[in-house]
Amino acid sequence: MQHQQRLLTGDRPTGRLHLGHYAGSIANRLKLQHKYQCYFLIADLHMLTTRPGKADIEAISENARQMVLDYLACGIDPQRSVIFLQSAVHETYELNLFFEMLVTVPRLQRLPSLKDMKDSANLAEMPFGLLGYPVLQSADILLPRAHIVPVGKDNEAHVELTREIARRFNNLYGEVFPIPDVLVGDVPTLVGTDGNAKMSKSLNNTILLSDDQTSVQKQVMSMYTDPNRIRADIPGTVEGNPVFVYHDVFNPDREQVAELKQRYRHGTVGDVEVKQKLAAALNAFLDPIREQRSRFEAQRGFVDEVIYEGTLKMREQARETLLEARKAMGLTGVWNRISRKAEDARKKREKAVAQ
Ligand code: TRP
Repeated sequence: MQHQQRLLTGDRPTGRLHLGHYAGSIANRLKLQHKYQCYFLIADLHMLTTRPGKADIEAISENARQMVLDYLACGIDPQRSVIFLQSAVHETYELNLFFEMLVTVPRLQRLPSLKDMKDSANLAEMPFGLLGYPVLQSADILLPRAHIVPVGKDNEAHVELTREIARRFNNLYGEVFPIPDVLVGDVPTLVGTDGNAKMSKSLNNTILLSDDQTSVQKQVMSMYTDPNRIRADIPGTVEGNPVFVYHDVFNPDREQVAELKQRYRHGTVGDVEVKQKLAAALNAFLDPIREQRSRFEAQRGFVDEVIYEGTLKMREQARETLLEARKAMGLTGVWNRISRKAEDARKKREKAVAQ
């Protein structure tokens, strides 16, 4: 297992996960966890870049718990993978500071993702810490010296920056870090139930992995479809229609989906039937996840232990990396020379007093 390549990715702890998270990243992680030594980061420090309030911080532990419960319910195996809390690994802050010296402000200002985050957080000006968001992310990635980083398209440029930082560090101080590869998912972002391009809690257009059967049924029946189709006998559009997008991703009965699409195009099926079949498919998909979730929920403190043990493991790894980084930079030497002289001086003084 020692020779296995390392993978790191993470999420800001916003609470329970939805179908978009599953399609966009969790499904991929389930496969990758068997091929790589995986590190899954709960990025609570990143959350602070736009939401530093006390109430937001207080919500982290419960949000992290709910998110990790969803990971486990989907099949992320805590025996194989390290799930850890970013803010509890102090080497993150230290490596972040070293990396800040290796990036220019204009380089960061050119990243469109940061401006987007500033705008969606309704911030008038760019906070210093938000500008440093991808630098902190680089510290996350290089702390376990990860080789591979699966992320969404919006984070691709951040991994590119990480590669630049790793190269710069290695050039200046010696080979400490691998140059990590980005792995961009090929699944397009899952549309919301309202037809919005993105499923997002703030838009209230999600289906949560932990939603019960009745609320899934209700959400599906109220989904946005082809607005031109005011009657069942009007031919409808399948492409980009959220109901069919979900059928494509979550309904394993390909034949049924093909048949529904054909009848939809010809105006020989009602929206209600298409939706009822979708609700059934989604509930069949979610049932085992719900079952696993309540099994883990019933084990008091289990999810906390997973995060706790993962964080302790990560701390060990982080300590090693920072020791090497400091040594390569020569910072260890600075302190060693001063402390050696100080100790010598103290010993001499003590000897003189004793005589
Ligand atoms: N930026 C990621 C997000 O959009 C979260 C994150 C923080 C992350 N650090 C990371 C992802 C390191 C991959 C690797 O939520």
